[in-house]
Amino acid sequence: MSPRGPRRTVTDMPTATARRPRIGVVTGGGDAPGLNTVIRAVVMAADRRGWDTIGILGGFEGLLPPVAHRPLEAREMEALLFRGGTVLGTSNRGRFRRETATGGREVDPQAVATAAANAKRLDLEALICIGGDGSLRIASHLADAGVPVVGVPKTIDNDLPGTDATFGFQSAVGVAVDALDRISSSAESHRRVMVLEVMGRRAGWIATHAGVAGGADIILIPEIRFTWDAVCNRIEERYQGGLPHALVVVAEGARAVGGRYVMTYGPAGRAGGQGRLGGIGPRVALEIERRTGHETRAVVLGHLQRGGPPNAWDRQLCTRFGVAAVEAVAAGRVRTMVALRGAAIVPVPLREGVGTNRTVPTDGELVRAARAIGISFGDEAAVS
Ligand code: F6P
Repeated sequence: MSPRGPRRTVTDMPTATARRPRIGVVTGGGDAPGLNTVIRAVVMAADRRGWDTIGILGGFEGLLPPVAHRPLEAREMEALLFRGGTVLGTSNRGRFRRETATGGREVDPQAVATAAANAKRLDLEALICIGGDGSLRIASHLADAGVPVVGVPKTIDNDLPGTDATFGFQSAVGVAVDALDRISSSAESHRRVMVLEVMGRRAGWIATHAGVAGGADIILIPEIRFTWDAVCNRIEERYQGGLPHALVVVAEGARAVGGRYVMTYGPAGRAGGQGRLGGIGPRVALEIERRTGHETRAVVLGHLQRGGPPNAWDRQLCTRFGVAAVEAVAAGRVRTMVALRGAAIVPVPLREGVGTNRTVPTDGELVRAARAIGISFGDEAAVS
């Protein structure tokens, strides 16, 4: 199982007398719409090549004692096309993470060594790792330890480098836009400001796309520090201009100038690190009402935007990602991640998926288009 050795493609392998080639699939990190759709595509595409697939259970934890996996049959995949979550289970903060001396986090080399040894015992041609930044980081350590790995980029936050999009994102945006459509009618009827908090720890992709698509007046994202004055000015502008209601979308990782991350409950963490974010929406609502006197309400979308069925876009993306991952294994192109580049799905070096987060370009076309129709990002200078 050497990813660095001479390339041996799976199709070259003798299958007449030996058992069928076998691949593994694992899902890691937070769930996202489409995980099961990728699993389905992997198993179906592998089966048509005459390969078996086993699913590692409970995320990468399933590679640590007690090792847990099960065979995945092509015929049981039919039901998975639009089923939310992951039938394999997942883990977000398991035994692969350890604290550093300075209070940071790193991948535990001992856990990686144990998992790699167990993966080798399974005699897999490759392990297809479906996950976000944390999971692909573990995958890349497993690759260093000699496990042939192919990554599939997942996260509703859409913030992985190396790919133009991750799966799950479009479905999450759809849920957020649906929520905005619903609260906008309430805002108008009650002459209120409505604030919607969406996920987005380090990147405001969900907030920006949903805000533009859902008619927000203000979008607050981690990439752009906001001021209370700019936020309230925009609201006053609307009320005084004869539109006495407003919609605000705020990403969980957004911060005011000089402000801190808001964490409602759970372990507090380092800024932007692993602390459990949540609560900036109610905080923004409170401050708007206090400063402007306009009645304001907040809705925290939370995990509603992460569960449930993938939309049509994600279903086709997940299917193409799953098939491309199997094709990468067949071609001996391990230590890669399948990525969307333009309109094509291509394998890219795995390390490209584990760099720094891909954030919303603050002077990019998306933000400029939003600003051009009057959407505020809470950073406009006061007009005297
Ligand atoms: O990474 C995706 C994400 O949705 C983040 O936006 C959010 O902070 C995090 O997951 C929450 O994950 P969990 O509730 O599973 O800890």
